[in-house]
Amino acid sequence: MNTPTNTASNLNSSTITQRSRAGLDALAAMLKYSSTSLRSVAREDFLATEQGAQLAREHEDGATGAEEVAARVDSAIKVASALPVHRMERFVQRYVAEEMMSRNVVSVEEMRDFHVMQDAAPVEGAGGTLELDGDAPLPAYYEGVHYHLSPHGAEDYDLGAKGGGIGRVFRYGGFAAVPPSSNIGSQRIDVVRQFRQADLGRILEIGCGGVFTLMAIHRVFPEAELIGCDLNGQTLAEGFRIAERMGMKVTLRQRDARDTGEAAGSIDGVFSYALHHEAPVEVNREMFREVFRVLRSGGEIVISDPPPFRGVDIFDAVLLEWDNDHREEPYFRETCLANWEDELRAIGFVDVEGYALGDHGYPWVTRAVKP
Ligand SMILES: C[S@@+](CC[C@H](N)C(=O)[O-])C[C@H]1O[C@@H](n2cnc3c(N)ncnc32)[C@H](O)[C@@H]1O
Repeated sequence: MNTPTNTASNLNSSTITQRSRAGLDALAAMLKYSSTSLRSVAREDFLATEQGAQLAREHEDGATGAEEVAARVDSAIKVASALPVHRMERFVQRYVAEEMMSRNVVSVEEMRDFHVMQDAAPVEGAGGTLELDGDAPLPAYYEGVHYHLSPHGAEDYDLGAKGGGIGRVFRYGGFAAVPPSSNIGSQRIDVVRQFRQADLGRILEIGCGGVFTLMAIHRVFPEAELIGCDLNGQTLAEGFRIAERMGMKVTLRQRDARDTGEAAGSIDGVFSYALHHEAPVEVNREMFREVFRVLRSGGEIVISDPPPFRGVDIFDAVLLEWDNDHREEPYFRETCLANWEDELRAIGFVDVEGYALGDHGYPWVTRAVKP
């Protein structure tokens, strides 16, 4: 397999006008200011209150059951909501989240002709396969949700997968579960390295979106056969074009992760990145059962998703919970209260572990083996 010689961000960078780039960069700077200067004052203010300090101690030492954790987080939200700097920090977060989506649409529309022409241009491909199924109904939990305040939902904007400008805003971290100064590109690679075996032959990424995470998998496992599935046909098609241009051979299928179409026992490793918080807990259970079915004996699953509330301090839990109602992540709260380790054990996985690679519980990894 060829080694990619270009990066997806390089391929995207020439498709934004200078004016749009400057506007998106200004939002990136606001996000950085909010998540560093403002947030550290908000955290100090929270801990300076009697109740905030007590909740912080209880969260560190206390019970980790979902009900107790939920009650503690709710109390902490009340304390934080009364603090002016915290409110201002959240206001900036919301403003940036909304504004970057709108500005990104403008930046894409400014280059519409270019995008349409580029998508139609013949590519000397890498020999991969794209299987779209536009007729498949979207699951009820997913349809109509405008994740991350995306103004176009899952599929109803023809250039909805052109997200190069959004990456500019996210590049310093400081949003959702991602702490400031995080590099979500190199962290994907760090998380892929959590597979215990170095010689996985067939790797499936469930909920792959496009190919950014498959690129990280390819970096760590250059010889592996790569398969990705997702519900969103647009991001798959865009990812496929990028993969083909980069010389990275992939098979991408528009399939629900609960029904991947892979034969039982045919996969050596399953990876998921930022998938599970976008679905209800019960849907995640079904995904894990499907993963168990397709893995061979001895095969592994590695998951990276926002940390559970029990895996971060109480103030970080308040910040995580905020995404549920304020950045259209309707399953964030229930999945941050869930325990993927217990869920995987219940299905039959062994050697189950959950841990953080860096500060603030991020990136959070859950890994397990099929016996
Ligand atoms: C935040 S994105 C992450 C995409 C990708 N893993 C990455 O690292 O860039 C979450 C993805 O999960 C997909 N998704 C949600 N529910 C799914 C399901 N039941 N089956 C397959 N994909 C799903 C969404 O369409 C979306 O592309």
